[in-house]
Amino acid sequence: TRHLLGIKNLSEEDIQLIFETADSFKEVLNRPIKKVPSLRDITIANVFFENSTRTKLSFELAEKRLSADVVNFASGSSSVKKGETLIDTVNNILAMKVDMVVMRHSSPGAPHFLSRHIRANIVNAGDGTHEHPTQALLDAFSIREKLGDVAGKKVAIIGDVLHSRVALSNIFCLQKLGAEVMVCGPATLLPKYIRDLGVQVEQEVFKALQWCDVANVLRIQLERQQIKYFPSLREYSLYYGVNKKLLNRLNKEIVIMHPGPINRGVELNSDVADSDHSIILQQVENGVAIRMAVLYLLAGLK
Ligand code: CP
Repeated sequence: TRHLLGIKNLSEEDIQLIFETADSFKEVLNRPIKKVPSLRDITIANVFFENSTRTKLSFELAEKRLSADVVNFASGSSSVKKGETLIDTVNNILAMKVDMVVMRHSSPGAPHFLSRHIRANIVNAGDGTHEHPTQALLDAFSIREKLGDVAGKKVAIIGDVLHSRVALSNIFCLQKLGAEVMVCGPATLLPKYIRDLGVQVEQEVFKALQWCDVANVLRIQLERQQIKYFPSLREYSLYYGVNKKLLNRLNKEIVIMHPGPINRGVELNSDVADSDHSIILQQVENGVAIRMAVLYLLAGLK
């Protein structure tokens, strides 16, 4: 396929190819001149219908490092506010001879829908509660970098799994690479179908931390929650918040990840987020190389 819509339909070989390509781009990014001419004939539109800091800037930097021409669209300041549809919006952008669309949208399946109606390559930069494929790729790439391999590693995904596209894409990606995956959170924040995905389920955060090599701590997504009162943020941080005191009770060192943005003091305390256990900023750094790899490989499939 000439799109990256999700991790679900990628093979292990596809993911390994993305990682090997990202390895070489990471080397480029560590040079004094960080730019390569690979996509100099390609124009890419970053079309964001939802807020973003990391993903949006990371894609834009990846595109610029590859010498692509870049245009940015933010729905809040666009003619979507006058009632223009998604298809009309994207078709008008494509009429300006755009080759690739990187899209974030609040509706699950929005990029899949678009892929059936437009001719450009589409990269899903997060579709509602569904998938966030480049986040999962950069997460697994960061585990591989830190621990040498993903296969055989135990990864606990902790928190608001129900509303998390990061969780679903991570589960698919980690399982394809041979990791064991556990999810941990209050029952109200775990989807009913979670056991069908072949993951272990744990309610107690300490047990999950004791089990894992890597804890990927998720943000509580208040903007997507229907049930805003259980657990409350205070209850959540009391029973599920990851802090130094908990880590000190473990008889081993574990790696802490978070996709960002962090609700400091809710799902993750600063004494962990800013500690040597954390690879949160390495994840962000790796995001640029991963997105360069994805864009470069898709451009070759035009
Ligand atoms: N991790 C992530 O998707 O962050 P943004 O929402 O800031 O892009």
